[in-house]
Amino acid sequence: MGGLTDSVVVSIGGSILVPGNNDAEYIARLASMLKELSGSVRLAVVCGGGKTARYYAETGGELGGDTYQLDILGIGATRLNAQLLALALGDMPDRVSETPEETASKAEVGRIAVMGGTEPGHTTDAVAMMVASCMDADRVVNATSVDAVYTDDPRKNPEAVRIPEMTIGRLGEIVYKEHGASKSSVFDPLGVKIAAEKNIDIMIVDGRNLDELRKAILGQRFDGTFVNSH
Ligand code: UTP
Repeated sequence: MGGLTDSVVVSIGGSILVPGNNDAEYIARLASMLKELSGSVRLAVVCGGGKTARYYAETGGELGGDTYQLDILGIGATRLNAQLLALALGDMPDRVSETPEETASKAEVGRIAVMGGTEPGHTTDAVAMMVASCMDADRVVNATSVDAVYTDDPRKNPEAVRIPEMTIGRLGEIVYKEHGASKSSVFDPLGVKIAAEKNIDIMIVDGRNLDELRKAILGQRFDGTFVNSH
């Protein structure tokens, strides 16, 4: 970790960005923190779809949409969220970048690149890792609704224990096991695969806790799960 200028990709869950209460207040504080850090860190942010994506997936499904069509709707929601964050950053484009390469080329110290999804079949966590790979990034920070990875689902099992640090191999075991059961996973398996190949660390942190998110972006000790890919 830690060259002269770190390159970092933040994958921010839609459920963090737009949960549906005080969204503008949170997004304004997030944007201000990101702008401050972008003075010393090369930053790209990939936004998830959250509630908006779920609404379109459910409604589109009831209307007979197939997986491909529902993914296209989901991607639309992620791009809408990306535009909202870009607006808060003071630079809303008519169209956000649609490829990891374009986003990586736009990210500079002092200029934050923002995007949503790319193509059907994966999630924005995987997209964030693709951007990180293009940027030769030091880490991907997954700003999510869980505050760490646990040994089991803490909402169902009171014995579940937080894991502050793990290897990328261990995360791989967890996500491949989970993937069979449900689509929702702590991190997209494709993203884990790229992280392992490219030695990109993953910091999993509660995205609503801006102090911890800030530390994770800066590569400092933070409260969450540090996934070591080295
Ligand atoms: P998200 O990345 O928000 O998925 O994309 P998610 O798993 O719901 O994310 P979390 O739980 O907030 O982290 C929303 C949907 O958009 C489509 C998929 O259908 C995904 O479930 N999508 C997104 C794609 O098909 N391709 C992409 O590149 C991104």
